[in-house]
Amino acid sequence: MDSPAASPILMNMEPGMCSGAITSMHHDNDDMAAFLDARDLIESRHNTSPKRLLEPGPGEEQILAVLSLAAAAPDHGGITPWRFVIVPREARAALGHVFALDLIDRDAGATLQQIEDAREKAHRAPLLIVAIARLGSSERDIPPLERMISMGAAVQNILLGAHAMGFGAGLTSGRAMASRRLRELLALADGEQAVCCINIGTATHPTRPKRARPSPATFLTYWVPPVDASHGRAPEGAAYLQD
Ligand SMILES: Cc1cc2nc3c(=O)[nH]c(=O)nc-3n(C[C@H](O)[C@H](O)[C@H](O)COP(=O)(O)O)c2cc1C
Repeated sequence: MDSPAASPILMNMEPGMCSGAITSMHHDNDDMAAFLDARDLIESRHNTSPKRLLEPGPGEEQILAVLSLAAAAPDHGGITPWRFVIVPREARAALGHVFALDLIDRDAGATLQQIEDAREKAHRAPLLIVAIARLGSSERDIPPLERMISMGAAVQNILLGAHAMGFGAGLTSGRAMASRRLRELLALADGEQAVCCINIGTATHPTRPKRARPSPATFLTYWVPPVDASHGRAPEGAAYLQD
């Protein structure tokens, strides 16, 4: 996809400028302090590989506290178009078996080491939650794309909650998410789709985010009404944009 044309207002922005500039905005001090706290939390979250997630993981109360944040996701129609399945440590062998068999299905030439690596992925983080999208059902007519947005927001809330508690967290996916074996293991209903695993634990060597996040200048433009060539002015109805 072509990147959108940057508007003049945003064209000269560099990554990070938005965050810096915001501190000088006129605003109620309490609101601004709350914004800055939220910004710190959101911007310091980053993906941690499950290989680096060790014990201790969150306890039962912490798990429920974090999962309850999922319910704060925007949800058009109030249909909760997602659900989460925790696969406890003692049940991970069955998940690992699915990962291993799926690899063999995809690649008959997979080496024993590759098969063991696939199996081992199920055993890494102290807490492994499978995120399942509920994309189709007889409930209200909310399209799959909107449901996925709701689910993404729910996942992000969980990641942020875990991060706020001091845990590391990372997402993993892969082709096994769509496999028949995984569907059977998790008893997925028609219209349900496993999307990714949310892995949570204590991060070894906690770090700051590694990647430079894109600046709004790369994904935000202001729509400007086209100039009506015959009159040399913006078409009827566009005036409100200039108010
Ligand atoms: C639906 C989804 C699935 C993902 N699956 C994987 C994965 O299989 N392996 C992986 O290393 N990262 C996976 N990620 C994490 C991204 O790689 C990570 O978010 C990205 O590198 C940006 O890094 P950040 O989250 O630290 O900003 C996934 C992310 C999403 C949203």
